[in-house]
Amino acid sequence: MNIIFLGPPGAGKGTQADAISKERGMAHISTGDMLRTAVEVGTPLGLRAMQYMEKGLLVPDELVVDIVAERISKNGQQKSIILDGFPRNLNQAKALDETLKSLSYKLDAVFCFAVSEETAIARLTGRWMCPGCGANYHQKYMPPQQQGKCDKCGKTLQQRPDDNEKTVKERLKVYKKQTADLVNYYEKKSLLRKVNADREVKEVYEEVTKALDLLTREK
Ligand code: AP5
Repeated sequence: MNIIFLGPPGAGKGTQADAISKERGMAHISTGDMLRTAVEVGTPLGLRAMQYMEKGLLVPDELVVDIVAERISKNGQQKSIILDGFPRNLNQAKALDETLKSLSYKLDAVFCFAVSEETAIARLTGRWMCPGCGANYHQKYMPPQQQGKCDKCGKTLQQRPDDNEKTVKERLKVYKKQTADLVNYYEKKSLLRKVNADREVKEVYEEVTKALDLLTREK
C-alpha cells in the first residue's frame, strides 16, 4: 500500500502520516523533515534549501526529486510508503511516476486533506516542535503536559522558523499556485480521495484508516 498525503500547510498531513506509519509499519517519507535535517546538519543541500524554506517558497525541483528517489530506493520493497509533502508540483509528480515505475512500486491512493485557510493559520502559528525527537504539539489543540517541554524526551520545544503568520500566508499562496493542480492530476488517474481535515485529529485518522482498510481488502 503506497500512498501520498497531499494538502496545504497545516492540513495535518504530518500528524496523520506519523500516526498511521507507526501503526501500520509503513515508511513515512517527509520531504520537509528531510530538508530540515539537511539544514540542521549544514549540508550543501541544506544551505541552498534554507534560502527558500525561510521565505515559504518551494525548494527547486532538482534539489528535491533526487533525494526522494534515493530514499525510496533505499526502502527497497520492505515497507509500504507514505509520501508527505511530495510531490508539490506537476514536474515532481511526473518525476515520482518515473521513480515508482523504475522501482516497481504501485501508487494506490492520494489522500487530499482539505482545511480552511483560517484553520491552517491557527494550527501553524500555534505549533511547537521538539528539536530532540521531532514530536509535534499545538499550544491549544495538542498541548504538552508541561508547558514548553516535550512529553517524550523532556527537551525544550521550539517553533519552526517558517511558522510565523507572514511566512504561513506565503506558503498557503504557494500551495494554491503550484500544488493545488495536482488534485486534477491524481483525479484523472482515479487515485484521489478527498478528506475533510477541518476536524479533530481522531476523526481524520478514522476516515483515512477506514479508507486504507477498504483499499487493502480490494487489493
Ligand atoms: P513541510 O514541512 O512539508 O511543510 P508544509 O507542507 O507546509 O506542511 P506542515 O508540516 O506545515 O503541515 P502539515 O499538513 O504536515 O500539518 P501538521 O500535521 O504538521 O515543508 C516545509 C518547507 O520545505 C516548504 O515550505 C518548502 O520550502 C520545503 N519543501 C518541502 N517539501 C518540498 C517539496 N516537495 N518541494 C519543494 N520544497 C519542499 O500539523 C500542523 C499543526 O496542527 C500541528 O501543531 C498539529 O499538532 C496541529 N494539528 C494537526 N492536525 C490537527 C487537527 N486535526 N486538529 C487540530 N490540530 C491539528
